[in-house]
Amino acid sequence: MDLKKEVLKLKEELDVTIVAHFYQRDEVFDVADITGDSLELAKKSVLTPHHNIIFCGVGFMGESVKVLAPHKRVIMPKVACCAMARMIDELYFDESIATLEKAGVKKEDVLPITYINSSAAVKARVGEMGGLVCTSSNAFKIIERGLESGKKILFVPDRCLGQNFARQMNLKSAVIGVDENLADADIICYNGFCSVHQLFSVEDIEFYREKYEGILIAVHPECDPSICEHADFVGSTSELIKYIKELPIDQKVAVGTEYNMVSRLRTKNTYILSSTKPECPTMNETTLKEVHRVLLDIKNDTVSKENEIFVDKEVIKWAKVALERMFEV
Ligand code: 13P
Ligand code: SF4
Repeated sequence: MDLKKEVLKLKEELDVTIVAHFYQRDEVFDVADITGDSLELAKKSVLTPHHNIIFCGVGFMGESVKVLAPHKRVIMPKVACCAMARMIDELYFDESIATLEKAGVKKEDVLPITYINSSAAVKARVGEMGGLVCTSSNAFKIIERGLESGKKILFVPDRCLGQNFARQMNLKSAVIGVDENLADADIICYNGFCSVHQLFSVEDIEFYREKYEGILIAVHPECDPSICEHADFVGSTSELIKYIKELPIDQKVAVGTEYNMVSRLRTKNTYILSSTKPECPTMNETTLKEVHRVLLDIKNDTVSKENEIFVDKEVIKWAKVALERMFEV
């Protein structure tokens, strides 16, 4: 029997749901029960009737499911860590608050917002300070709501997302460690970024516009502000999918986001906005072979602690508060 058939058979036999992010390899994406962007996956995984969730994505996504549904067993074939999420931990978060205080911005005048691409421990810090989580699909609304508090926003960890939304909302932004005028900014950004979305350049946009007259440029807001300023469309993973699927068939488009997702979207007239292949290395770590292995582990009751997501109770409490504040908005 081939591996895919075996995976599907085991899935039927066991009390398990397979969840896969849009950036997963096709071989993994094809056997999933639930697919989506990070927000959809967090919401839908919690509602599955099964006790075991095999989460194919990156660590912070599996942690979000565990935080929202601690009674479920979250198993990741590879506990791959998003490069951006690794750029901040609780200590760096506390250091950022201390830097703001030195710059004349009091802690009580700051509302932290963390992009969902962060550890549960960082989300917990944010929750404890009255802040909340956002994703690229709801960042505009969340920041708008945050500003109603009359406080400055500390946006972690993605500098680009913070800067891009500040520009869209006509707000002033500044980056910790880069800009000096932190106290003048409405949105103060932590200096984190996505290594995959940094691969796109203004030269790539110029190249495609010269080569194909009328081509559209569509990018994810994790791209540098210089890219987003020049693009025809900036949108989250789900927004990009909708935008590209609704284009007339002969409309050319060059897309600045992760390769696996773009390549499965639309076969004709769709280009990757880069001369290199923008694959997310950690998303690509999960293979069908490993999904099969953890299914067998569930069947034989031999799931390794290394594949299971555990989150400290106190962290769950506050990270859940930060996530639920996002769902309320
Ligand atoms: P989404 O929230 O759009 O799924 O994206 C997560 C991510 O890691 C994008 O690089
Ligand atoms: Fe993280 Fe970037 Fe990979 Fe998304 S594409 S999971 S932000 S490293």
